[in-house]
Amino acid sequence: MKLLARKATCNSHGQDSSYFLGWQEYEKNPYHEYQNPTGIIQMGLAENQLSFDLLESWLAKNPDTTSFKRNGESIFRELALFQDYHGLPAFKHALVEFMGELRGNRVSFDPSKLVLTAGATSANETLIFCLAEPGEAFLLPTPYYPGFDRDLKWRTGVEIVPIHCNSSNGFRITQSALDEAYQQAQKQNLKVKGVLITNPSNPLGTTISRDEFDHLINFIASKGIHLISDEIYSGTVFDSPGFVSVAEVLMDRNLQETDVWERVHIVYSLSKDLGLPGFRVGAIYSNDVTVVAAATKMSSFGLVSSQTQYLLSAMLSDKKFSRNYIIENQRRLKKRHGMLVSGLLNAGIRCLKSNAGLFCWVDMRHLLSSNTFEAEMELWKKILYEVRLNISPGSSCHCTEPGWFRVCFANMSEDTLNLSMQRIKAFVDSTAATTSNDSDTPSQRQLVRNSRRGSLTKWVFRLSSYERKAER
Ligand SMILES: Cc1ncc(COP(=O)(O)O)c(C=O)c1O
Repeated sequence: MKLLARKATCNSHGQDSSYFLGWQEYEKNPYHEYQNPTGIIQMGLAENQLSFDLLESWLAKNPDTTSFKRNGESIFRELALFQDYHGLPAFKHALVEFMGELRGNRVSFDPSKLVLTAGATSANETLIFCLAEPGEAFLLPTPYYPGFDRDLKWRTGVEIVPIHCNSSNGFRITQSALDEAYQQAQKQNLKVKGVLITNPSNPLGTTISRDEFDHLINFIASKGIHLISDEIYSGTVFDSPGFVSVAEVLMDRNLQETDVWERVHIVYSLSKDLGLPGFRVGAIYSNDVTVVAAATKMSSFGLVSSQTQYLLSAMLSDKKFSRNYIIENQRRLKKRHGMLVSGLLNAGIRCLKSNAGLFCWVDMRHLLSSNTFEAEMELWKKILYEVRLNISPGSSCHCTEPGWFRVCFANMSEDTLNLSMQRIKAFVDSTAATTSNDSDTPSQRQLVRNSRRGSLTKWVFRLSSYERKAER
């Protein structure tokens, strides 16, 4: 046996979940409209590629920011030398202003309460390190972002206890679900240190309602625990009801003078709203000075480069640009979301009603061979290998009901999205057309399954070559 630490060899990283396995399969056979038209279309990646042209045109008009210059003078040496972990004041100022803008300026943020981190991944882990000991627990509403198993648990040793939400009320957080999760943690002898929500939700694409906030705030107040609100998708809200940040709720309920004020922490990042996950820019915002001081020291392990901070402080402080970007990006997301919802409906598939995010939460329960997670995996594999779409099964998001899938719509061209909708419709139609009779023998049923597989593969190929001809 190798002489390694347990963390290096244990599998609590979650790399073997179907969420990540789907990405690996996609890498082996990625769709390309000319080079690989029958390949797998990536619909399991919550990336926002819809507004790159806006960012690129700003960069073209502001060449100083990418060539280490300020007013024509080189600042290369200033940027190249070590920056301390407090971050560039100009960038922190620009980022809090942008966060205020995303909330309609109904709340403002103080840069001294902001800690910069290498993305929301690092922000969430750092907060958990600050708020909980190994073996203590955080409660998370299900379904949740699969990366949380890695980000919150793996290195911190903290446990996640699910708050089970279900389709009967559109996966809303209820008082009884919160109470049940708390009791479940107690049964497991786990001390609960807080609740973590994503608002808007990944994977649901919905915003947290005032009612849910009331339950959450009352709950953390009565139990004396923390609330982390991951607001990484705050700029993606494209429809009513609009986005309400936990920061606004605290103000509306006049909680500034209470202990709850210091127990609510916000996570943010530019990975989704600006579509810059490669830049690794995230932040923690907290009213607790001890948390801010500790997280600032910990941020040494995941700083944002000064070059990136310099570029983005110039971009975000261009108010005319950033305001226009927010509106235009939301308009484009709304259009894409509409294309996905209507494309799926055309194939007889419904989505949970949503108003935000880069994905839909899609109901495929009627396509399962039985109401089980085994049947969900069977359907997921068919969609991955035969239809050649990588979507994320609900089980990877810890959903308690089989048959739900997260499908992303903002990481591809409109043509690719249309093609994916044609493929899924062909799949559903072929499934309906070849459904075998109950009286069929097992071998007859196998024959039907084989012929379905063959005809679908031909469909995928035909659709793709048709697309290419139409393009020319
Ligand atoms: C809810 C949520 N939090 C955090 C992250 C990680 O984001 P980042 O790229 O900023 O680390 C993601 C990424 O998908 C996410 O969906």
